[in-house]
Amino acid sequence: MRALVVGGAGYIGSVTTEVMIHEGIEVVVFDNLSRGHRSAVHPKAKFIRGDLSDKDGITRVLKSESIDSIVHFAAYSLVGESMEAPNMYFRNNVACTVNLLEAMREAGVKKIVFSSTAAVYGEPNEVPISEDAPTSPKNPYGASKLMIEEILRWNSVAYGVHYTALRYFNAAGASENFGEDHDPETHLIPLILDVALGKRDAVEIFGTDYPTPDGTAIRDYIHVVDLARAHVLALRDGRNGTYNLGNGEGYSVREVVEAAERVTGRPIPTREIPRRPGDPAKLVASSKRIKEELGWKPQWPNLEDILNSAWEWRKRFPNGYED
Ligand code: UFG
Repeated sequence: MRALVVGGAGYIGSVTTEVMIHEGIEVVVFDNLSRGHRSAVHPKAKFIRGDLSDKDGITRVLKSESIDSIVHFAAYSLVGESMEAPNMYFRNNVACTVNLLEAMREAGVKKIVFSSTAAVYGEPNEVPISEDAPTSPKNPYGASKLMIEEILRWNSVAYGVHYTALRYFNAAGASENFGEDHDPETHLIPLILDVALGKRDAVEIFGTDYPTPDGTAIRDYIHVVDLARAHVLALRDGRNGTYNLGNGEGYSVREVVEAAERVTGRPIPTREIPRRPGDPAKLVASSKRIKEELGWKPQWPNLEDILNSAWEWRKRFPNGYED
């Protein structure tokens, strides 16, 4: 198997590339480095700097590199930013994916594993959320991912593309060499670790009036390596599928802060501020379907293990990738 990992210089893309290479898959990383990092590209992957807005360019890469499968991470993924600049999200996420699918058609590539998101569900009626729950995204980011899922389905009908859409809940943690480094950082766990490192004075808690036991929002955190392993299972499966990926266990913002205090052995001061617009109260996955159909089994479901991996990586790379 020779796969093109589009967006392989980003957080989840870099870890998935590492797991794929470990599993004996040849990887070419394709990334425009607009949000990723050159040094997050695995040394055993070939790197091509390119942009999905250039359909002919990507077609040439698929042909010249003899690519047979695609893993597609490349997207903007900030909920707040998408509310302010929706067209930027539809152009970059949706239109560029149409280019990728057209290039696949021209080059005869029939397999794609796609990064989708729990944001397709919006505010769920019940948790844990199954894949059959209604989709009703509350922001352009989630809407863009849901549109792509539909586009994949019609490409399957028309051109026989095999696709897997993986709806991630909250990716967290790190492998030994690759971790989370966004600029600006908006995610809870890296911000908490910045406080533990003394780089920030406190972590803000967005909302303490949610209908949850401690009033803070609940999320399902999944180890990024467990997430990465699901892509390999999906690549090796010939069917179409849409799967949730989480641990089925929810933790509130306060619980994550407390767990991080235990893992780091350092105090994490907090500051309570109002809710962040667009944040659902509680998102917890049912991952029953991917367990049953693809045999996925998380190796690190424990929150403290997830935090510990993120903490080890942050201590090794306190300034992230520095490029
Ligand atoms: N939070 C804080 N303070 C912060 C940052 C976050 O209290 O400084 C809270 C958020 O309100 C949320 C939780 O911590 O309740 C987790 O927030 P993140 O920003 O880390 O992650 P999100 O749940 O907002 O978003 C993640 C992905 C999105 C995806 C979404 C789907 O980053 O791409 O999950 O559920 F859309």
